Amino acid sequence: MSLSRPYRVALNGYGRIGRCVLRALHERRGRGGLEVVALNDLADLASLEYLTRFDSTHGRFPGQVHQVDGGLSIDGRCLTVMRSATPEGVDWASLELDLVMECSGAWHTRADGERFLAAGAPRVLFSQPMASESDVDATVVYGINQHHLSGSERLVSNASCTTNCAVPLLRLLDAAFGIEYASITTIHSAMNDQPVIDAYHHEDLRRTRSAFQSVIPVSTGLARGIERLLPELAGRIQAKAVRVPTVNVSCLDITLQTARDTDAREVNRVLCEAAAGGPLQGLLAYTELPHASCDFNHDPHSAIVDASQTRVSGPRLVNLLAWFDNEWGFANRMLDVANHFLGIATTKNEHA
Ligand SMILES: NC(=O)c1ccc[n+]([C@@H]2O[C@H](COP(=O)([O-])OP(=O)(O)OC[C@H]3O[C@@H](n4cnc5c(N)ncnc54)[C@H](OP(=O)(O)O)[C@@H]3O)[C@@H](O)[C@H]2O)c1
Repeated sequence: MSLSRPYRVALNGYGRIGRCVLRALHERRGRGGLEVVALNDLADLASLEYLTRFDSTHGRFPGQVHQVDGGLSIDGRCLTVMRSATPEGVDWASLELDLVMECSGAWHTRADGERFLAAGAPRVLFSQPMASESDVDATVVYGINQHHLSGSERLVSNASCTTNCAVPLLRLLDAAFGIEYASITTIHSAMNDQPVIDAYHHEDLRRTRSAFQSVIPVSTGLARGIERLLPELAGRIQAKAVRVPTVNVSCLDITLQTARDTDAREVNRVLCEAAAGGPLQGLLAYTELPHASCDFNHDPHSAIVDASQTRVSGPRLVNLLAWFDNEWGFANRMLDVANHFLGIATTKNEHA
């Protein structure tokens, strides 16, 4: 970090990801290098305070949360709270920010991002992959390509939770065995874009169905997202996704046709070694224990390889399972990317 003060960050959208970002930073206890100074959401202050304090998935907030003068106090530090549905409804410039983290999911295009910049946000980090690659200056999967950032970008995407899980694994396995083709199924916990019981949805008939009564196939941009990060695999990946009736933690079921013969022991050895050291340490984990998904609630890794589920059929058809906390792992990557991005951006400005 190049500034003597923490980087000043605002959250636009304070739902599952926005709240996890704030809390993950709090749980890093000063090791974050960032300070959330403001948030903007459509909800009233009492609800924002309440859902910060009490979280059905991650438990009670480990600190003091109060309403103060129309804002939110977290362990005595005051956050400005705003309630605007549009980027220009907030005077971002007056907050003297280094970054807005866009966590509402309401904005998808470069034109949307530019509305934040025009309203005084110096840079925006999106908590989702954008509609097309040209909608941002860079899409980052931490551990893979953050070093490609130059510091001059203003609109950056943190990709998706599934991309953050898949890309490190695919890059490792491609380097070790060569990937000829891959087919990936995301088995994802329910999200707030699904109703609790059947209700109308204007775009997607499947999303009219109760999240807690069915396994529901949904569309996914995972294959496209992987190809943005690993263009050498373009045209060789297919993906599908199902939502399942759990509240958090998801997994990827990955099937690969490899270019050379291998076996489950060798595949697991490659993944185990990558988790133990090197650039993916702290991002990739490896376990041989008999787990269920809830064991990974509040786990900050991008991917946890479940070695007990690795299968190799014939010498070249590899199948593996990797867990990820779709909320907590991704929120931690938002912080990692923000820190890295702001580090080089502010160094660049100082030397300009
Ligand atoms: N949840 C995950 O596991 C996960 C993982 C990775 C990435 N993401 C991505 O992160 C984004 C947010 O997902 P989420 O799960 O956190 O959704 P969420 O829980 O629904 O949170 C979104 C929040 O933003 C608010 N909001 C909606 N429109 C807004 C606007 N125009 N301005 C300000 N706030 C607005 C929402 O308010 P209302 O509820 O009143 O609409 C809600 O409080 C999505 O793009 C999602 O794809 C989610």
